[in-house]
Amino acid sequence: RRISPVPAPAPVERAQAAYLGLAIGDALGASVEFMTPKEIRHQFGVHREIVGGGWLHLRPGQVTDDTTMSLALGEAILAAGGVDAQRVAEAFDRWMRGKPVDIGNTVRRNLVAFRRSGVPESRPSEHDAGNGAAMRVLPVALACFGLPERQTIAACRAQAHVTHHNEVSDAACETLALMVQDLLAGRALHEVRARRVAALNERVPAFAGTRRPRENPSGYVVDTLQAVLQALFASDGFEDCLVDVVNRGGDADTTGAIAGMLAGACYGLAAIPARWLRALDPAVRAQCAAQAEALLGACARQ
Ligand code: AR6
Ligand code: MN
Repeated sequence: RRISPVPAPAPVERAQAAYLGLAIGDALGASVEFMTPKEIRHQFGVHREIVGGGWLHLRPGQVTDDTTMSLALGEAILAAGGVDAQRVAEAFDRWMRGKPVDIGNTVRRNLVAFRRSGVPESRPSEHDAGNGAAMRVLPVALACFGLPERQTIAACRAQAHVTHHNEVSDAACETLALMVQDLLAGRALHEVRARRVAALNERVPAFAGTRRPRENPSGYVVDTLQAVLQALFASDGFEDCLVDVVNRGGDADTTGAIAGMLAGACYGLAAIPARWLRALDPAVRAQCAAQAEALLGACARQ
């Protein structure tokens, strides 16, 4: 056993670090979204500061849809006392009416379909394997913490299928939620990897498809998770993991958000650089911290 004077972070602290990590990764990555690693090197050397800009011309510390959709989902879960597809779809529809700075094509298409049909579950589609459902899975992982796995899985699907009814997306969403829950419970990263990543690769072999560094990850959730998991398992801390993943470019706000969520849950609040917390939009920072606390175990307490 490791003898350490610093106690392991409690689940609620890991939950807050995961939510703040999501927002920080989103804000950090958005500056270099759609750039190649070479372009990033040319412009930034190593990109490691929250400076805004990017193709969305963000203010420093401003977040994008990855974070704001998560917050909309979290609010819907708290208001409904659980993960209810109808309430989630209504919340996303309101979110879309609020003119978000960015929105994925699959997200938009299926929310427009919901407006017309009133049916909160989108139709299954092979083309809906974008990362738009996986990027916002955190509130479900937090709310279902402490419940049996099958209930977390059912809740993942209910939230995901509002916009992404696709087996590859489902596999990603469920794996991420269960990994977050393992990390909240204090499981070691290598153990979480052995438990969850092998199962993912077996279920959808495409996820295991590369041994080379995944650079320029697209919005395809397989690319996204390959980049995120490579960075997470190669890193030895929160900052290291996020810097690695966003400097791969491509869909960097989303890889940053997902990596930030996992690294936050893994390493805890104390590992988040103070300069990144200070740079994050203060209102977003407060909402993420408050939701994390309110959501943690919320469904298990029902
Ligand atoms: N095989 C290969 N590529 C696929 C497949 C597939 N089966 N399915 C989808 N893609 P989009 P989202 C690709 O815009 O999920 C925001 O910017 C597809 O060709 O539908 O709605 C966030 O920050 C396309 O390139 O995304 C996120 O980045 C991509 O996956 C994003 O939107 C999905 O793109 C999430 O929203
Ligand atoms: Mn993105």
